[in-house]
Amino acid sequence: MSKPVLYLMICGAGPADHIERMIRLAHDDGWDTWCVATPAAIEYFLDLDALAELTGHVVRTGHQRAGQPALPKATAVVVAPATYNTINKWAAGIADTYVLTQLAELTGLGVPIVVLPFVNTALAANRVFQRSVDELRTSGVTVLLGEGGFVPHPPRTGGQVMEGYPWEAALEAARKKIPGEV
Ligand SMILES: Cc1cc2nc3c(=O)[nH]c(=O)nc-3n(C[C@H](O)[C@H](O)[C@H](O)COP(=O)(O)O)c2cc1C
Repeated sequence: MSKPVLYLMICGAGPADHIERMIRLAHDDGWDTWCVATPAAIEYFLDLDALAELTGHVVRTGHQRAGQPALPKATAVVVAPATYNTINKWAAGIADTYVLTQLAELTGLGVPIVVLPFVNTALAANRVFQRSVDELRTSGVTVLLGEGGFVPHPPRTGGQVMEGYPWEAALEAARKKIPGEV
């Protein structure tokens, strides 16, 4: 039987430096993992060659180009780390990165999506952000914000909380959202 396909959407925030942790967890859990990255993630955080080697697939950074393999159909999607920027734009219907275009379509299709934000308490307290989280949840997206998921840290302390970033919670939530899984 073929493996379930996980799209791992990677935005430009600190935990992207450690994205291989999530990929290894996903592999251990039986997922075929395909990375899709935002321009900020690529510019500041990711080693695309290393990720391609780890996953066995080229990291998608834009629309499919001639000769590139098509993304297989997603069983589930995890957005991690999810930035303030991407969460707000996605909830507002903006699709000006490949990640956002994909998320817009996948949300409309009802594919199981889990979001693991990485924002500080100042960004999390912004009403716009709270509105966006509510909007995504209303659309059926699981946003792991708060106890049991990601708990925002005070500004300028992100580097200190990186080790505790709950990648596993995102994977577990994705698994639970697949029809027929518990
Ligand atoms: C070193 C660095 C760390 C950043 N950390 C965060 C962060 O923790 N959370 C966040 O929402 N944005 C963070 N940003 C800002 C985002 O990268 C920026 O808003 C960018 O436009 C996000 O684009 P994306 O959502 O398409 O990835 C950081 C940027 C840099 C360069």
